[in-house]
Amino acid sequence: MSNQNSSAPASPATTIRAFQQCLNPTCAATFAIDETHFSCPTCGDPIDVVYEWDKLPIPRRLTDFESRWRSRLDPLDFSGVWRFRELLPFAPPEAVVTIGEGQTLLQKADKVGRYVGLDPGSLWLQYEGMNPSGSFKDNGMTAAFTHARMVSAKRVACASTGNTSAALAVYCSATDLGFRAIIFIGSGKIAYGKLAQALDHGALTIQIVGDFDDAMERVRQVSTRLGIYLMNSVNPFRLEGQKAIIFRILEALNWEVPNWIVVPGGNLGNSSAFGKALIELSYLGLIDRVPRLAVINAVGARTLHELIGKRHLRWRNGLPEMATVDAYYRQLDAEKIKASTIASAIEINRPVNLKKCLRAIEFCNGIVCTVSDQEIMDAKARVGAGGLGCEPASAASVAGAKRLRDDGVIAASDRVVCVLTGHQLKDPTATVAYHTTDQAQFDQILGSLGVQRAGFANRPVVVVNDLDDIIRTIGLYSETDASRAVPGGSEFPPAPLG
Ligand code: F0G
Repeated sequence: MSNQNSSAPASPATTIRAFQQCLNPTCAATFAIDETHFSCPTCGDPIDVVYEWDKLPIPRRLTDFESRWRSRLDPLDFSGVWRFRELLPFAPPEAVVTIGEGQTLLQKADKVGRYVGLDPGSLWLQYEGMNPSGSFKDNGMTAAFTHARMVSAKRVACASTGNTSAALAVYCSATDLGFRAIIFIGSGKIAYGKLAQALDHGALTIQIVGDFDDAMERVRQVSTRLGIYLMNSVNPFRLEGQKAIIFRILEALNWEVPNWIVVPGGNLGNSSAFGKALIELSYLGLIDRVPRLAVINAVGARTLHELIGKRHLRWRNGLPEMATVDAYYRQLDAEKIKASTIASAIEINRPVNLKKCLRAIEFCNGIVCTVSDQEIMDAKARVGAGGLGCEPASAASVAGAKRLRDDGVIAASDRVVCVLTGHQLKDPTATVAYHTTDQAQFDQILGSLGVQRAGFANRPVVVVNDLDDIIRTIGLYSETDASRAVPGGSEFPPAPLG
């Protein structure tokens, strides 16, 4: 930035030592930083942002970034993304579009750690719900909007399960740079909190009959046809911004590398960005070891797990066996299988960042696992009871950590960071359905997806409007507050009072 209100688009300064490159090593086409491509025009593969590191001023140690803490009145130093700008140096400072994203928290979470089966001090939750739009997406949006400004784009679009669209709408409305948001969502597939944001922030909201995968296909076509700037994570600049989640995790751990970073997998933008961050930090000698990456799919949207775990798809130096992917997608179509999970944010069967994620998994000795909607909702309740609420997709990371701990893959003493990708209030419907005393509501929202119990429910207690009754109720319940959660048991209707 620094001045959001200046409408003069900045042109890339000559000191920018960055370019774009096709991920496919047999193509490796390169493009200038101020070109706009969302896939390689030559071969169709994804595009990376690449830096000429040897010509760039790189901090000698990660601790050098701490000097930025003293100058937080500078919007670039305030931003949890741009205070690491030497690690994503694609834009001149005057082009940066920031709304103060990335003021997030890494919280030691022993209560949740006990649920996962970890030693005290081992589980950390990276709470991305604290971003201005309530999810991690803002990390990527600040970078993509910066690039959009560099190329003088005005109309910006995305397909979304809700959070990308909320972030897009927030960045358009919170800046005064003439951006206009157009969002595509699948009908009936978006959590209410997210839809509310898109509408409140003034985005042109197009609900198509179909799911996220359908919306994604359409937005790519529409963007090409109308020359609209695409803000999905096929945009390589989005992923540059999302690298900052890794930088902030390391910063909050006093620059010590954890054993595990656990993240939900949907379109696989985060896992791809995390891998790129770690590859670059290693290359630059800024970290001396690499954490293992665990990507968690919902059982009902498990493309990555199927492809890696069952069909042995691998990165293979940039040439994964794409016939394996095509065959799997053909099978999904033939069997009319659509993604389906309570974690609507990750209800995706055709992840656009699949190839980049394979690279991340290869580099980080990564692992993929699946968790059921039951495990997701139970983990979500435990995260909430531990202090930081999250939406269902985010809880997949904690459910996944528990699964990997139960399987002995993660050790009790390992230091584990689970990324909570989105705020609790994004999806109140799922939360209330879990804690409700109304069986029909539970069945309709959760039972239909295979959730059978609300083992950690904190049920509201209904009392008649009578002082003695109220006092008696408090006496009955106040000392056993936490134990009203009935592990393993679904109590419908809840046990009568007295
Ligand atoms: N968690 C939340 C809360 C999300 O909103 C998303 C993705 C993910 C996890 C998955 O992240 O795509 O990087 O693997 N939401 C997208 C959206 C797809 O449209 O808001 P990913």
